[in-house]
Amino acid sequence: MTRPTQATINLQALRHNTAHARTLAGTARLLAVVKANAYGHGAAKVAVAIAEQVDAFGVACLEEALQLRAAGITRPILLMEGVFEAQELDNAAREQLWPAITNEQQLAWLEQAQLSAPLQVWLKVNTGMNRLGIAPAQVTAFLQRIYDCPQVIDHSVAPVVVFTHLSSADNLHSDATLQQLKQFAELPLASAAVARSAANSGGLLQWPASHYDWVRPGYMLYGNSPLDAAHSNTAALKPVMTLTSRIIALRNIEAGEAVGYGGTFVAQRPTTIACVAIGYGDGYPRQAVNGTPVLVNGQRAALAGRVSMDMLMIDVTDIANVALGTPVVLWGDGLPVDEVARYAGTVGYELLTRLPARPARVVVED
Ligand SMILES: Cc1ncc(COP(=O)(O)O)c(C=O)c1O
Repeated sequence: MTRPTQATINLQALRHNTAHARTLAGTARLLAVVKANAYGHGAAKVAVAIAEQVDAFGVACLEEALQLRAAGITRPILLMEGVFEAQELDNAAREQLWPAITNEQQLAWLEQAQLSAPLQVWLKVNTGMNRLGIAPAQVTAFLQRIYDCPQVIDHSVAPVVVFTHLSSADNLHSDATLQQLKQFAELPLASAAVARSAANSGGLLQWPASHYDWVRPGYMLYGNSPLDAAHSNTAALKPVMTLTSRIIALRNIEAGEAVGYGGTFVAQRPTTIACVAIGYGDGYPRQAVNGTPVLVNGQRAALAGRVSMDMLMIDVTDIANVALGTPVVLWGDGLPVDEVARYAGTVGYELLTRLPARPARVVVED
C-alpha cells in the first residue's frame, strides 16, 4: 500500500471561485495571481484550468512565468516584482510578459534595452505598504519616461497600468486602506493614458472603491478568505485543496500518560489516541498546538502531542467508527486552512505555499 498522504486539488471549486471573483469584479478585468506554485496548488494545472475565465496571470518572477508558458498558457503574464536583472527583459519581450516597473533601476534597464519586441508594462506605486513601488510624487516623471521609451508599446494601443498594493484590505475597519485608496485616487494621472489596479482578494471582497480597471485576487481563488471577519462575499468560496491522510495506529492510554516527543500532551482521562500518517515533513505545521482541529468521519478531533516528521497523533476518544485506515482531513473541505493556521500562529497563505512536493497532488474535476 502506498502512503495515504495527499493534497486533493479540486478544479471545479477553483473554477467556481474564479467565477465568483469575476462576478465581484463587475466590469474590471481579472488577473489571477498564481505565484508560488499557485499558492502550493500546482501553477500549471491551476492556470490551464482557469485560463478561459481570466484576462491575465500574475507571478513573482520570470521562472514562474516561463513555467506557465511551457504549460501552454498564452494569456498575458505580469511579473509583479518586475525583473531582477536587465537580461530578463529579453525573455519578457520574447514571451510577451508584462514586467512591473517598481523602481528607477528597472526603468533604466528598460530604457537601455534592445528588445526583439516592445513590451507592455505596469507601474507600481507605493501608497503606504512601503514594500515595492515608486513614490506618488515620482509618478508623472516615470510615466513620461515610459511613454517616451521605444521599448514600451505605444500607450494609445496598450495603456500603462498604474498599480498599488493594499497592506490591510483584510480588515474592514482599517484606516490604512482608506488612506491608501485616497493616495491612489489622488495620483496625478491623465486618465485616458493609463489603467489602474489596486485590489487583491481583500480589496475585491470588501473594498469596492479599490476595484478600478484590473483586480488581482490570489488567495480567494483557492477558496479561502483573507478577511479577519465573516463576510457575505466569502460564503460562496469552496476550498480547492484538501489535505488528507489516514489513521495507521490506534491505542488506548490511561489518564496521566503522555503522547509524542517531549510528552507535551498528557491524557486527563482514559483516551483513544490515533496516529495519522502526516507530519511536518509533509507541510503540516510543527507549531500546531494541542487541540488543533482535524476532521475524522466529519467530526472534529484534536491534535494531541507534538507533530513528528511523518506522523501526528490525535485524540479520537469521542469519535465514532474509528479504525485503522479511517481517513483524516487536515485542512480543506469542512476545515478551513486558516482555522488550522491560527493554532499554529500563522496564516493559511503560509501553510498552502509551504506545502512541499511530498504529499502527492491529486487533481480531480469535482
Ligand atoms: C502585488 C500583488 N497583487 C496581488 C496579490 C494577491 O493577493 P491575495 O492573495 O491576498 O489576493 C499579491 C499577493 O501577495 C501581490 O503581491
